[in-house]
Amino acid sequence: MPAVVIVGAQWGDEGKGKATDLLAEHIDYVVKFNGGNNAGHTVVIGNEKYALHLLPSGILTEGVTPVISNGVVIDLEVLFYEIDALNARGIDTSKLRVSANAHVITAYHRTIDKVTERFLGKRQIGTTGRGIGPTYADKINRVGIRIQDIFDENILRQKVEGALDSKNHLLVKIYNRRAILVEEIVSDLLSYADRLRPMVADTALELHQALEANKVVLFEGGQATMLDVDHGTYPFVTSSNSTAGGASTGSGIGPGAFQRVIGIVKAYTTRVGAGPFPTELFDESGEFLRATGFEFGTTTGRPRRCGWYDAPIARYSARINGLTDFVLTKLDVLTGLKEIPVCVAYEVDGVRVEEVPVSQSDFHHAKPIYETFPGWDEDITGAREFTDLPKNAQDYILAVEKISGARISAIGVGPARDAIIQRYSLLD
Ligand code: GDP
Ligand code: IMO
Ligand code: MG
Repeated sequence: MPAVVIVGAQWGDEGKGKATDLLAEHIDYVVKFNGGNNAGHTVVIGNEKYALHLLPSGILTEGVTPVISNGVVIDLEVLFYEIDALNARGIDTSKLRVSANAHVITAYHRTIDKVTERFLGKRQIGTTGRGIGPTYADKINRVGIRIQDIFDENILRQKVEGALDSKNHLLVKIYNRRAILVEEIVSDLLSYADRLRPMVADTALELHQALEANKVVLFEGGQATMLDVDHGTYPFVTSSNSTAGGASTGSGIGPGAFQRVIGIVKAYTTRVGAGPFPTELFDESGEFLRATGFEFGTTTGRPRRCGWYDAPIARYSARINGLTDFVLTKLDVLTGLKEIPVCVAYEVDGVRVEEVPVSQSDFHHAKPIYETFPGWDEDITGAREFTDLPKNAQDYILAVEKISGARISAIGVGPARDAIIQRYSLLD
């Protein structure tokens, strides 16, 4: 069972961090392959709560080698801030490996992210403002700065000059901001060189060698399927491939190595930022989910938009990622509801549509068609076997599983590390 991928099956914040932490004691390497510090993963271990953004969640487990691979964009200030914060709490980060090919988020990427959002006005994406989009744009435009550039001052200066040339015109003339000095950026990046050097590696080679030696490698996706730049609700997406294919291009490991692809899905749906969301609730049910599920962003603190479970989205994720399993989280949040609606299809301009429409306009117009299931009142946070769940909760899971495109192998019943029901093994 060498390579396993975890991806978000909705719009993020499904509990990927907790799922990674659950598997971490069985794995040797954990790889973050996409995104950057736009991610926010909360992991609860005993009385301790950890919020991780740039570092993979598997770093919390002793003995695991954490890897930040080439597909990630790295804000170095955040990297060392997170490392120091974990070290201060007794977590060992000394095994961390960072790809020489990963791109670097600089001050100008953060600035451009914020000013372009402001200029978009009503059309804004609602980004996290961390510079993610502008850094990936530079990567695709071939004017990005990579980790390896930091170790050659001349090359670094040339590249920063090249990148800032046109950007300063844009910042000054269009956005009415001050020009950014090349030396400011160069000296900031160079200030991290000594601390960074021992971590930097050919991570694709190291991961390949680990897989050859039969080590277990877990690829931890940031963001989610519906935020993927190719397969999500474009343009209301992030700028990386957060679907399972991103694990291959984002790490340099061929697709044949991935034996298990696990989609993390909430028992309801949330979204942060703008964009279509067919099952979104604007009434007290939405408030109930937000308050009970504590749906506020780990990264920005923004309240998350909440809605019912959307089975066409689950099926879409199962297809796009080739999911072998789902981990369904936050079932406990539904406790106390009399009835639980599940979206089984959409109505688009008066026509019933079974799958996520390819046309973005149709998806904007899609109205959910619901089937309703009876709820339960019993506290389920102590359930550890499927049969510990009340009959109505079991029936809900079985009904959702039937229409979601892959088996539900584990069920989250609370934020704690052990608050999970395992139905099928995720690693064999
Ligand atoms: P990620 O970005 O996918 O890692 O998810 P986040 O950490 O942003 O958001 C998930 C939140 O739900 C975190 O606060 C977790 O502690 C919490 N959580 C995860 N699984 C469960 C669960 O089964 N029940 C409850 N109540 N909370 C959960
Ligand atoms: P995790 O890994 C939820 C959303 C932002 C915005 C859009 C683009 O915790 O699930 P960006 O800053 O990436 O350019 O913003 O994507 N977004 C997330 N939403 N969870 C995340 O990560 C997200 N990362 C980005 O809110 O709508
Ligand atoms: Mg999150």
